Order: sequence, then C-alpha cells, then structure tokens
Amino acid sequence: MAHASTIRPMRSARAPALSGTVTVPGDKSISHRAFLFGGLAAGTTRITGLLEGEDVIATGRAMTAMGARIRRDGASWVVDGVGNGCLLEPTEPLDFGNAGTGARLTMGLVGPYDFGATFVGDTSLSKRPMGRVLDPLRQMGVQVVARSGDRLPLSIHGPRVAAPIEYRVPMASAQVKSAVLLAGLNAPGVTTVIEPVMTRDHTEKMLAGFGATLEVETDAAGVRHIRLEGQGRLTAVEHLVVPGDPSSAAFPLVAALIVPGSDIVIRNVLMNPTRTGLIQTLLEMGASIETLAERDAGGESVADLRVRHSALRGVTVPPERAPFMIDEYPVLAVAASFAEGETLMQGLDELRVKESDRLAAVAAGLAANGVAHEEGRDWLRVTGRPDGSGLGGGTVATHLDHRIAMSFLVLGAASERPVAVDDAAMIATSFPEFVGLMETLGARLDPI
Ligand code: S3P
Repeated sequence: MAHASTIRPMRSARAPALSGTVTVPGDKSISHRAFLFGGLAAGTTRITGLLEGEDVIATGRAMTAMGARIRRDGASWVVDGVGNGCLLEPTEPLDFGNAGTGARLTMGLVGPYDFGATFVGDTSLSKRPMGRVLDPLRQMGVQVVARSGDRLPLSIHGPRVAAPIEYRVPMASAQVKSAVLLAGLNAPGVTTVIEPVMTRDHTEKMLAGFGATLEVETDAAGVRHIRLEGQGRLTAVEHLVVPGDPSSAAFPLVAALIVPGSDIVIRNVLMNPTRTGLIQTLLEMGASIETLAERDAGGESVADLRVRHSALRGVTVPPERAPFMIDEYPVLAVAASFAEGETLMQGLDELRVKESDRLAAVAAGLAANGVAHEEGRDWLRVTGRPDGSGLGGGTVATHLDHRIAMSFLVLGAASERPVAVDDAAMIATSFPEFVGLMETLGARLDPI
C-alpha cells in the first residue's frame, strides 16, 4: 500500500516566538499533474521541486504501471512518457493510498482506453465519492464495475472509441474538470468542459504547456468554457519547475501569525490567484503577510512571504472564495481561534467529502480544545480567544486526514495547554518535512 501503516500520535505544546526562513515542498496539485502529463507525453520531461509525498509517489507508480519510465536523478525526476493514446493496460490494481487527486485524475486519463483498470485506496479514499468522475466517463462510453455505489475499489473499462462530450461541472471541483479533460485527450473530436465556478487552473495551463490544443473562453456571466481537441500529440516539457505548495505554506504561516513575537519567511510559494484565498482572508483579518520578490517560475507566479505575529480580527469569508482556499479551511479555523470576535466561513459543502468530513473533524477538534464554535450544514462560525487562554488540552481524531493533523498541531503552538492528535503519520501524504520544518522555526512537537 502507498500509505503509512504505523499510527503516530503526536503532541504540540506552546512555542516560543517562531523565527527563521523555510522552504515548503512542491505543490501537490502540480506534482500529480507533472507525473501524469510527463508520463503521457512523448519524450523526456525533467521535473524539479516535485513533492515527494506518498500521494504523488502513488501517481508516479500508477503511470509506471501503464508504461511510463520514471526515475529520480539527484534533485530532479526524469520521466519518459509513452505518447498520447499509448498507455498500456495495468496488470495489477492501481493503488492510490489516500490520494483523491491521483485516483480521480487517473480515472479520467485511462477511462477512454479500450482496456480494464482497477482502482484501490486506503480506508479514507474508499469512502469518498467517485460518481462525480464516473458519471461523465459513462457518458463517454466507459463501463464501471463497483461493489459499493461508485466507491473504491472499482474497475473501469473503456469503449472501442470514446465519445467526446460537453460537460457542465455540477460542483466546484478541479478534480472533476481535470478528469473530463484528461478523458478528452483520448477521445476523437472536441471535449468541452463548462465550469460555472472557476477552480484551480493547473490542468489547463499545464496541458497547454505539453502542447495540447486547448482554448479557454470566459463568457459574459463569468462561466468558463474549456475546449480540448482529442487525440493530439503531447510533447515532453524539457524542464518543469514545481513551485512551493501554498496549501503546505499555510501551516507555518498561520503558526507565525498566532505565536506571539514570531517573524518568519517562507520562500518560493506559488501565488496562482486560484490558490491564494487564505492569504486574502488572513490579510482581511489584519495579518502581517508581506509578499517579497514576486517573480515568474515556469509560467506561475511565486513569492517569498514574510509573516509576523498579528492581532487578528474575525471576518466573514464569502462562499464564492471557497474554491480558492478549499484545503485551507481547517487551518483558517485555527487562525480564527486566536482572532478577536467571530469568523464565519460559508459555502463549505465540499469540505464534507475531503480526506475526512473536514467540517465535522474541525468542529470536533475545536470542541476538544475549548474553542467556541458553531457548525452548520455548510458553514462554521468560530469565536476566538486572542491570548489562547483556556485553549488546548484535548486530543483530536484525525480520521486519516493530513490537514486535520497539521492544523491542530498548529493550534497547540499558541494554546495555553498542549494539543494532541491521534495520528500524525498521514502528514507524509502531502508534507513529509512538516515536523522538522516546524521544529526549525521553534515549534515544540513530540511523539506520544
Ligand atoms: C485538487 C482539487 C481540490 C483539492 C485537492 C486537490 C486538484 O479537490 O481539494 O486537494 O489537484 O485538482 P476538488 O476538486 O475535489 O475540490
């Protein structure tokens, strides 16, 4: 299996002022796509800055099982792709561990092939809905065999010739958009994805970089129409640079904001506007986050962020911002726990289907650590305690969810009493360096 099997409980105690300069690992979304597109495109793609987390490694293994050749070469990864339309039938089930992105994007990629592929994953991934990807694939002619209602484990088999479709994505999901576009790569004619609410645009940008014929048009109502010409040639990108993951940077960033006296720099953070909702929200809360040396890195904007301890104020986060910070709500709830007044987060329905039911897991973690809050069907209200008095002392159930573990370890850094998490092992899926990096800054994390 691709995921960690030993449970590692951990405790985080109140930290002294955090200081230092750190670099977070590569962006998870871009890293998955680097292996997928590099493995598909004809020629050799060299990737630097790749996230070497368990989720991404599982995607690399899947591509290897279908004919790509992937090897590490010093600090880079070298991928020899098969050529569009030339993936091989995998002889074993593809195991995606904890990774929804890897599983769903690969399902789209192989769906239209006239062969069978079986998808398996860990307990968390096996509970997550796959119908959102399987439904459009069925429209293209893909057969699905699932034992329990479009959940893993499941097998798919493509038709002789897939039918291109026009698909309006019914929820704000970059994974669904991407899965349909990747399926379109191996269907004749034009596949169109209609995206009423914009989500992270890495698939569109990177496919264009690999030579796909694709156009994006935004209509007067702000709805995006993405048209992809199928069965074209994809060619390797000589040197693909993966910027630092803003969703990982979020943890040291919030820790520095809430631990008194802190002053840190996080280097090389991806600043793609579809990913910076948390920074925007924290700035509205009064956070001191300075963007230094914003620059271009391989077609994406990156910057160094100087973050200082700040007196935060509660805000209302509008629902339309959710797609631009969807993975950051757990750690925003932690920042809100130290803000003056109330923070209201809305439009959170998609949080219910992440690695865990993140809305419920956050609410339970806040409850266990004395943070006043209210949970609704798709909203969360948190009332902060700026000096952290009375906070902490609880143990958080992480439900195999890396972001729940990291968020509550950050909570412990500024709470009166330590905060424990029942399992920190899953952190390795997205941010294997987390504990060491936080300790470098001065955090006090200990196994229990
Ligand atoms: C991702 C899309 C988001 C996000 C996930 C990564 C991607 O999921 O939560 O961590 O790389 O496309 P959804 O598409 O389900 O919102």
